[in-house]
Order: sequence, then structure tokens, then C-alpha cells
Amino acid sequence: MRIDLLLTGGTLPDGDVADIAISGSRIAAIGAKIEAEAGETIDVSGLLVSPPFVDPHFHMDATLSYGRPRINESGTLLEGIALWGELKQVQTEEEIAARALDYCDWAAAMGLLAIRSHVDTSDEAAMKGVRALLHVRETVKAYIDLQLVAFPQDGFLRSPSARDCTLRALDLGVDVVGGIPHFERTMADGRRSVSLLCEIAAERGLMVDMHCDETDDPLSRHIEQLAYETQRLGLHGRVAGSHLTSMHSMDNYYVSKLLPLVAEARVAAIPNPLINITLQGRHDSYPKRRGLTRVPEMLKYGIRVGFGQDCVLDPWYSLSSADMLDVAHMGLHVAQMTSPAGMRRCFDMVTSESAAIMGLADYGLEPGKRASLVVLDAGTPVEAIRLRADRLLVVANGRIVARRDRQPMRMSLPGRATRTVDRRFAGSV
Ligand code: FE2
Repeated sequence: MRIDLLLTGGTLPDGDVADIAISGSRIAAIGAKIEAEAGETIDVSGLLVSPPFVDPHFHMDATLSYGRPRINESGTLLEGIALWGELKQVQTEEEIAARALDYCDWAAAMGLLAIRSHVDTSDEAAMKGVRALLHVRETVKAYIDLQLVAFPQDGFLRSPSARDCTLRALDLGVDVVGGIPHFERTMADGRRSVSLLCEIAAERGLMVDMHCDETDDPLSRHIEQLAYETQRLGLHGRVAGSHLTSMHSMDNYYVSKLLPLVAEARVAAIPNPLINITLQGRHDSYPKRRGLTRVPEMLKYGIRVGFGQDCVLDPWYSLSSADMLDVAHMGLHVAQMTSPAGMRRCFDMVTSESAAIMGLADYGLEPGKRASLVVLDAGTPVEAIRLRADRLLVVANGRIVARRDRQPMRMSLPGRATRTVDRRFAGSV
């Protein structure tokens, strides 16, 4: 067998040790010992080889804009939305595209090779972002799957131009229908926006991903309407609710009825731990609510959950770095998923579970699937989260797109022999 790239001795997420043979853009074989003539052979023994990271919730039209035109002083969601309203008036299509491409460089370097980005479709100013991100989607397609969501940030019914701009964005090739029912003027308008947007998705055969109930108000129940419309229109498995933070504060009896409905409709959930823990509870004194939705409870009902990043250096968030291990780390802590199975699941929620939510074809480490993967300086998925492990090699569709040497720290401590140290753990975590 003649192949292009052979990775030897890597540890797969399930713990198996295997060689991976890559031919063209596909995985040719995975096995204990592959004998083949390879264009390049790389020893990855002792290192974790994972399918690439996936971010199912992002805002690429706003990323890397921190400080423009000013900083979010209160740190709240609502000041962020107001600040975004100012930014979108002054930023140009070229600026948006340049920032997004810079961000895609960061993402590829971190093994983040699939991103679902919302793009504002509220008004004419926002359409600069639509055009810019359609250009970026095309530019990066060899190494990043960029899926775009038409997102009427200012409210589908609240903003007079949102319906027209959202439909135009979908006509231009934006992939998914979004919404923001909790930001409409009334609960009734919120419900109506969910119905109208789901009907648009059903007519066009598209997926749905709505910002849904991103509030601490326990009576914000648009997820119920989203699940209902999913059932009514037969959109099972094609719909996601992002954030769902109000569920943190809902009455337990109501949630015991709600979660089976969400499960029946096969609506996925996309919490965004970094942002939820930062933005929610802002109106509380003490105790302050965490605001993250009920992740372990959803998993018990069989609801698919993927963790998103949401923001990097933008009007809503002044940190983050395209590192989905940061996202998993925060989600694990805030959801208190500290059992071995819970921690492992947090890794899946930034890889395979989010890939399933995005409907990515040919994702995963199996023969015949796309040869996209990341090699991490860790022995297991949980260790990768604990260390927010360095990415040593990133392969996208069979091509090496990022590479660095493993360099343990050299230590010269008084009274101790000079040596190197790394923080890998020889135990079984
Ligand atoms: Fe968002």
C-alpha cells in the first residue's frame, strides 16, 4: 500500500493505540501496525490523536473587535448588544473578513476545524457581515468547515428589516436559520418568531439554531415552543437551542415535563460555558446563579449536547483564544461533571457531539472518513482538558496545516538536579 502520511503509535480517544494511514484527503486505514510506504511518517506514540475540535456556536462577524468602538463597561449581554449595534455601523466588509480570517488562523492552529458561526441579519449594516463571511467560508473551505446561521440579532419581529435581511441572507447561501425569541418585545412575539423561523427552515429544508432563553428569567420558555414547532413541522434532529440559560432557574416540575418534550423532538442543546458563567446572574446580588443550562439532566434524557465558545475578544467577551479545551474545562466545572465518564463526555461535547449537531459528513477517525485530526500533548481526552494540552500537529483533509515540536520545560531549581518536567500524569485519568 502506498500512502501519503502515516502517523504511528498514537492513542485514540477510546484508549486504543493505533497507526493511522492517510491517502489524499481520506483515512486509508487504522490499525495496530500498518506496513506501508508513506510519503511522510510521523511518530506520535504516547500522544492523543483526536478528530478535530468543533465549535457549534460562534460569532465570526464580531470576533477580534475588542475595544471597537469602546469597551463593554457593565459586562452585560444587553450592553454587548448595544455595543454591537454601534460597531456594525462603523466596521467595513473588508475589516470583518480580515478579522475572521485572522481568527480562522487561530482556530486551525488549535485544531478547531469546524465552526458554526451566527451572522447578524437584522439590518442593512449587518449584511456587510453576511457578505464577508460568505467570502471567508469559501476562502477557508480547504481546512475549516464554516457553517453560517442567519441570526436576526435585533429580533426577527422587533427589527423592521430583519425578515427581509434574513431571507436575503438565506438566498445568498447562509446555511442555517437562527433567531432570538427572548429578545423580541413580548413573550408572545418570541413564540411567534420561533414559529415563523421554523416554518422558513421547513420550507427551505434547512437546519435551525436559535439563541433561546439566554436570560435568568425562569419564565422565558421559548425552548418549549422550539420543541413544539420541531415536532409540528417534522424537523426532528435538525434543530438546536443555543444557551437555554433560563432553564437553570426554572421550576423543577416544569423542567420534568420540558426535557422529555425536547428529547422527543430530538432538539439539541448548545450551552456556551465561558459566556454563560460570565453574563448570567448579573442582576443577582448573592447568592449569584451560575446560569449554565442543566447539562447532566439533559444527558440523562438522551438529549444531544455540544459546548460552544460563542465569543472571542468581542463586545460580549474580553478573553478566549479559539481553544475548545478551555470551553470543555469551564463546562466541566460549572456543570460539576467531575466523574470519569462526565469528564470524558465534556471532551466529546467539543468534538464528536458538536460534529453531530452540525451534521458534519465524514467526521471521525475511521477508514474512509476525512483525514482531519489533531495530535495533542496528552495521553487521554481528560488529560487534554486538564492541561488544555498543546496542539503538536493538525491535519486538515489530509494536509498538515499546523505543527510544533514538543518541548518540556527545563528546570533548574535550587537544591534539585537539573531536569525537564512536564505535567503529564502517569495514573489512569
Ligand atoms: Fe451567541
